[in-house]
Amino acid sequence: KFNVLIVGGGSTWTPGLLKSLANRKTQFPINRLVMLDTNAERQSVIGEYAKVLFKEEYPELDFHYTTDKEEAYRDDLDFVFCQIRTGGYAMREQDEKIPLSLGLIGQETCGPGGFSYGMRSIKDMAEIVENVRAKTDKAWILNYTNPAAIVAIAIQKLFPEDKRILNICDQPENLLRSYGRLLGGMSPRDFEPKYYGLNHFGWFTHLYDKDGKDYLPELEQMILSGGFRPADYEQRDKSWLETYAMVEQMVRDFPGYLPNTYLQYYLYPDKVLKKLNPEFTRANEVMAGREKRVFEECQRVAEAGTSQDSNVVANDAHGEFIIIVAESIAYNQGQTFIVILENNGIIENLPNDAMVEVPAALTIHGPKPFAVGKIPTFHKGLIEGQNAYEQLTVEAYLENSYEKALQALTLNRTVVSAQQARQVLDALIEANGDLFPEL
Ligand code: G6P
Repeated sequence: KFNVLIVGGGSTWTPGLLKSLANRKTQFPINRLVMLDTNAERQSVIGEYAKVLFKEEYPELDFHYTTDKEEAYRDDLDFVFCQIRTGGYAMREQDEKIPLSLGLIGQETCGPGGFSYGMRSIKDMAEIVENVRAKTDKAWILNYTNPAAIVAIAIQKLFPEDKRILNICDQPENLLRSYGRLLGGMSPRDFEPKYYGLNHFGWFTHLYDKDGKDYLPELEQMILSGGFRPADYEQRDKSWLETYAMVEQMVRDFPGYLPNTYLQYYLYPDKVLKKLNPEFTRANEVMAGREKRVFEECQRVAEAGTSQDSNVVANDAHGEFIIIVAESIAYNQGQTFIVILENNGIIENLPNDAMVEVPAALTIHGPKPFAVGKIPTFHKGLIEGQNAYEQLTVEAYLENSYEKALQALTLNRTVVSAQQARQVLDALIEANGDLFPEL
């Protein structure tokens, strides 16, 4: 039985994770589960919901939620799931609105918004790793804190010898789920995907099944003839429907590949910019929607004392996925997942220190990536520019360098103009105040 810590327990994604932990108690049995958050109020709403859920569905579990680091970081931890959001939704809103006010893409992980979020997150994420390692070298740290690309580079630079940190993003998995549904009910585990890139910046090149049949050409045709319409199409927020339309555009313009949805911001910044509302961004959509719904529902469940009639978890894919990742490691299953790793030759014609997103078999020894070989010039060129942006962002943080921050933003395809890069950088420095390093 495992001892598990969730850092960022007050997240609206947590109920899905908790429900999945209960659903998978046979496959992934837990002894002690602790949730830690710096925001006591958010954490207690989710924590009280969890108590009701576990009383009904996981009574043997030793569950605690706390804001006390001493209680959370212990020497008997096996897995730490990290999902923090430094600055909360208030700062996400700023990350999106400040660039938009200057005519640039406003998005939480891409462009200047991602830069800003990255600058805030590195310190907290590094502190979590230090806190865990002060107690144990044994625990696996599964990190899906955003912006994953920048956080992963920073963690790799700060803890280069640590072999038990795995940076992972759910978007390739979300896409595999969508593809599976489009194909009439295949699961992500039915695919042996070939994929390469950086986080939120990659392409599927093949989608084999266990017998070696490649489903990518079929999917491409489906998307070209009927649009990208996964089964959850009708339930998604408006902004996601626009994203799906952009997937269709990317497949049309660049045939032979299925792109990560986030590439839309880099490939069509002008077009996407026209669709983004500077007064009401994704942060506003989430605060008015998911945030409100999840907290109200968790409160209701806690008061009612039963979670049996609750629909708080509309989509638990996110939560279930990270548990299956942990199982693959813990039980040495070697299941294939798309994860973020230091390149070191996996993609032959990219720098060794790039943090690439590629398929790997997850084993008890850690991720065993599959060689990708050389990638085409178009993708290589795009990735090199984006990697340079990411590396300079992390160097700007570590060296307190305004110059490197300016270089980073100038390199970002959503910015390009050095003048606009300076404007947005200055505005982000001001808005973030003490949450930013000294630049
Ligand atoms: C996907 C991405 C994550 C991102 C999330 C944001 O799952 O892979 O990196 O955090 O979407 O979703 P939201 O609903 O908060 O905009």
